[in-house]
Amino acid sequence: MRVDVVTIFPEYLAPLELSLIGRARRDGVLDVRVHDLRAFTHDRHRTVDDSPFGGGAGMVMTPQPWAEALDHVVATGPDGAQAVPHLLVPGPGGVPFTQAMARRLSEEPWLAIACGRYEGIDERVHEHAAERMPVTVVSLGDYVLNGGEVAALAIVEAVGRLLPGVVGNAESLVEESHEGGLLEYPVYTRPAAWDDGGVVREVPAVLLGGDHAAVARWRHEQRLARTAARRPDLLAPAATVAGLDDLDVRVATPADAPELLVLQRACWMPEARVSGSWPIPPLEESLDDVVAGLGEWTTWVARVPAEGGALGRLVASVRGRVRPGDPTVWETGRLVVAPDLQGRGLGRALLAHAESAAPEAVRSFWINTSRVMDANVRRYRRAGYRLVPGEGTYPGTVDLTKPRR
Ligand code: ADE
Repeated sequence: MRVDVVTIFPEYLAPLELSLIGRARRDGVLDVRVHDLRAFTHDRHRTVDDSPFGGGAGMVMTPQPWAEALDHVVATGPDGAQAVPHLLVPGPGGVPFTQAMARRLSEEPWLAIACGRYEGIDERVHEHAAERMPVTVVSLGDYVLNGGEVAALAIVEAVGRLLPGVVGNAESLVEESHEGGLLEYPVYTRPAAWDDGGVVREVPAVLLGGDHAAVARWRHEQRLARTAARRPDLLAPAATVAGLDDLDVRVATPADAPELLVLQRACWMPEARVSGSWPIPPLEESLDDVVAGLGEWTTWVARVPAEGGALGRLVASVRGRVRPGDPTVWETGRLVVAPDLQGRGLGRALLAHAESAAPEAVRSFWINTSRVMDANVRRYRRAGYRLVPGEGTYPGTVDLTKPRR
């Protein structure tokens, strides 16, 4: 791979002569060429910046030296080939530089990196470059550096080490942090028991036992635990949901019915196992029945928020209505929370959401559950409901009510 770096501080890139990247350059795997932007100026002071039009702090890099430098880089491409480099412009306003991007870039034959300084490069340089080559503005992270050189070092190292032969043990590339979307597991070496000034610190026993499957399991668990603790944003979106405030709650429409049907079937399965012979409507309903139910009740669905206006996963639901013939009772029901999000108080909060929608005339709330589902009864009691003695409204069920406060 070839990488051309354009900068006003060529010495900044000297570390790329060291270690594995330095060796890759000497071995001919990586061809790094550093260009001094000032070599493309034509005035006595070798000027590369000027004050910004429109006012504002700092200086802006002028277009002419940049255009000449980039044209020079392109002109030194492989003889006769139409090749151009993929130009990376480091900047805090760029797309995040990630391991996945490093991997994609490592498959390209030629990169160029334009290291800006000051307040940035005149925008017309981006236009000039974009007419000649692919251009990507990349950011190392949400903080501001003094220029693109540190980013160039990071990019060349992260990309260069993925080139075949640069890192001796290819397996260590697969097992490291961010590969597979998880952080790395903790590592240990000798001694197995380290006397840290009187405190003996031991290596986890599983690593000493020689059971490779157990080691692999332990490491995977460690990766998950670390990722959950330090970078929950890397896990499935639902993993970061702590309460109802983290979900989008809306009134359901027929478009929600298919997912609602799947969720209610999943959530009422445990009841089927213990219920004996009573029919369980949520398990027997068809899609048409679910759609019809949306017309008879107000149903709310909660979704995990998704990026860019996309529809997130439907993870919880509840419904409520004024009891037909008795405007003082608000019936609630069909309270479901996806199995992976239970135990976070979502059900209780969603039930309260449904109760709060009751019209003013309502004096009491009513809910009904299977007689065999003790856990449900306990949950509703915690929410203030009390058992109504005797058989519930439907066979095999109990009713619970609570007064409105
Ligand atoms: N130049 C200045 N800040 C930067 C950042 N966060 N990432 C990449 N290049 C930069």
